[in-house]
Amino acid sequence: MKLKQAIKTLNEKGYLDIPVPKDINLVAEINQLRKEKNAVILAHYYQVPEIQDIADFVGDSLALAQAAAKTKADIILFAGVHFMAETAKILNPEKKVLLPDLLAGCSLAESAPKDQFEAFKKQHPDHVVVSYVNTSADIKALTDIVCTSSNAEKIINSIPKHKKIIFAPDKNLGAYLIKKTGRDMLLWDGACEVHEEFSLDKILQLKAKHPEAKLIAHPESRDYILNIADYIGSTSGLLKYVQESDAKEFIIATESGILHKMAQVAPNKILIPAPPENDETSCACAECPYMKRNTLEKIYLALKYELPEVKVEEALRQKALVSIERMLKLS
Ligand code: 13P
Ligand code: SF4
Repeated sequence: MKLKQAIKTLNEKGYLDIPVPKDINLVAEINQLRKEKNAVILAHYYQVPEIQDIADFVGDSLALAQAAAKTKADIILFAGVHFMAETAKILNPEKKVLLPDLLAGCSLAESAPKDQFEAFKKQHPDHVVVSYVNTSADIKALTDIVCTSSNAEKIINSIPKHKKIIFAPDKNLGAYLIKKTGRDMLLWDGACEVHEEFSLDKILQLKAKHPEAKLIAHPESRDYILNIADYIGSTSGLLKYVQESDAKEFIIATESGILHKMAQVAPNKILIPAPPENDETSCACAECPYMKRNTLEKIYLALKYELPEVKVEEALRQKALVSIERMLKLS
């Protein structure tokens, strides 16, 4: 009965709203379920530490798409946001792809609605469309080649110089890529609500307090942050930089979930999260409200009942697959 009722409200709530007994060992239960069902748990660096610690694989958007393309598991549980699970499903039509909470969306993906984007593309028929992976399947189907923050430069450089380019949906990453590649791209007006929020004043105050610290930033951040950064890179790029740099202190301008992995790979370094303008989190750090919808309880329920499942209609899947496969080939 509880299950029937929970299934009825699944789309509205995003997850199966069934009470999880307080006395069960969630990690042990999840381990048992993933073994029984041949499931793999893929997690993004922005997930809470306890989810990263139980995942079979933790990575950035590109590494997760590559892991999803390779897995032999029957079930992929994606501890991330909707577009990531959707990409995994596009690559694996025969597998079950679970997302612990269907409302784990993405402001960037939402900033490119299908109809508006289709009309924009029609106005510029001679342009090659490059889209960030943070988009819906509908946008990927209208895209020539997908990219992520770790391969965007390479993807842009792979396009013949005489071709005009539309870059969507992140205008900050797009503007950064124009500077890096020298290409004159037409930018869609979208942004990540988390990376756009970093406070220049607060970061400058932190830099004054920690003069030796390196400021490192994700390219989804605004140009006034990127202009003063010592290093700009994807989440995996930032992680590698912290691990390999001789510096001891870092101010990190990306979602704070990455600090967990950074502390694991570079335990002796001082990691300071960059603060957003309006700090509603009380951690003086940036938190993605969508990534943070996932919990161990929701992962347990998703594996147990094999819901919520992410599905993509077959004709759309085939169209979207083309632009993802082009990216994977080049990566
Ligand atoms: P990467 O994982 O490519 O660094 O992207 C960060 C992000 O915002 C994912 O939503
Ligand atoms: Fe989307 Fe930004 Fe959250 Fe990444 S951090 S999932 S880009 S809203």
